[in-house]
Amino acid sequence: MVLTMIELKTQIPGPKSLALMERRKKAVARGPFHTTPIFAEKAEGSWITDVDGNKLLDFSSGIGVVNVGHSPQNVVKAAKNQLDKFIHTSFNVVAYENYISVCEKLNSATPGTFSKKSFLVNSGAEAVENAVKIARAYTGRQAVVCFQHAYHGRTYMAMSLTAKAKPYKYGFAPFNSEVYRSPFPYPYRWPTTSQPDKVAEECFLEFKNLVNSEIGVSQVAAVIIEPVLGEGGFVPAPKNFLSLLRNFCDENKIVLIFDEVQCGFGRTGTLFACEQMGVTPDLLVSAKGIAAGLPLSAVTGKSEIMDAPPEGGIGGTYCGNPVACSAALAVFDEWEKGTIQKNTQSIKRILQEKTESWFKNFPIVGDVRGLGPMRAIELVKDRNTKEPYPEAVKKIIKSAYEKGLILMSAGTFSNVIRFLPPLCTTEKDILIGLEIVEKAISEV
Ligand SMILES: Cc1ncc(COP(=O)(O)O)c(C=O)c1O
Repeated sequence: MVLTMIELKTQIPGPKSLALMERRKKAVARGPFHTTPIFAEKAEGSWITDVDGNKLLDFSSGIGVVNVGHSPQNVVKAAKNQLDKFIHTSFNVVAYENYISVCEKLNSATPGTFSKKSFLVNSGAEAVENAVKIARAYTGRQAVVCFQHAYHGRTYMAMSLTAKAKPYKYGFAPFNSEVYRSPFPYPYRWPTTSQPDKVAEECFLEFKNLVNSEIGVSQVAAVIIEPVLGEGGFVPAPKNFLSLLRNFCDENKIVLIFDEVQCGFGRTGTLFACEQMGVTPDLLVSAKGIAAGLPLSAVTGKSEIMDAPPEGGIGGTYCGNPVACSAALAVFDEWEKGTIQKNTQSIKRILQEKTESWFKNFPIVGDVRGLGPMRAIELVKDRNTKEPYPEAVKKIIKSAYEKGLILMSAGTFSNVIRFLPPLCTTEKDILIGLEIVEKAISEV
């Protein structure tokens, strides 16, 4: 393979980024992490130009947000049009049409033929919080079952539902009560078998045991799961696990919530991942890709469940901001054109072929997996022990950005590299990015 270099103007980070990082250290709290040491000047399509004039290829999409690309023309135009009209009235004070239009779009685009309603908020975590509130209001029950390796956000309920302690939970206890955690069907790390159907069956037995022995089924308000783990390492839940959960929730009048904040809005090649899994949740949480980077998120689900909270029971000052709603409608327009879907097929094909070839050639690549173009590699020190290799991931990410490619890690053990290119990325650019990764893996 011939390495196609990305031409950079300076070393990464360049002098302007270095100076900004010094200012950042003095002025900004330590908490927010940085995957790269650069600062953005502008971004278009799949490329981000930093303040030193370096153009970097983005395989992160701002953590799976700009699925339709950075600053697509129609989204920018729609947001500008709305800015010219009004920026904010609060939907709770003086309502506006584009909020309703986004809800109508969501109600018809999400799986399920039943009557649906939606509710808009600002972030993934806030949507998760509200999904739990709605489920509790509907069932009159308290317990929520979540899963190992889950990530649902950083606010208190979302953090309580999140699995990974460091850095997300450590030092922030106490967490919310009535949260119970069951194993996630993670075939690569399942102790008895890696056959997805078997893993699903065994994992479901553990779930049932947990519910029966530690909670009592009549106390469970909701089960919340990511159909494909996001931060947890891009592990798709086996389809039959989701259908076993679906049947269990139906039999026991439990609200099944799918958190599609990361795997939704086209990331897996269909608008929602659960479309490919043949299982429909009662409530679906979306965010990230919904408005191409403007803060917006949603809970969509069965009308009778969504209507459980009384008037005034859910809401917020900024919920469903009109500029974000206009952007979301433009994202729906992009999706309805069908061009992104076609592109996701070639992204998926190339990513799958490449990652599978790495699995053959590099012993540190222990697992390759994903759903559609949402793909990842898991690095291990030893294929037999499966000991995680987070140091290698760190090196590869650093080597990649130094060569002009922005990559992100994932996984409970920080040993996963996830590929999150904007879904408009061309075949040529995907190949350029993957050549950089391949070189970096071979150097570890
Ligand atoms: C599956 C999932 N749920 C919830 C969240 C939280 O979203 P936000 O960061 O917008 O609060 C994330 C963020 O990465 C996510 O991946």
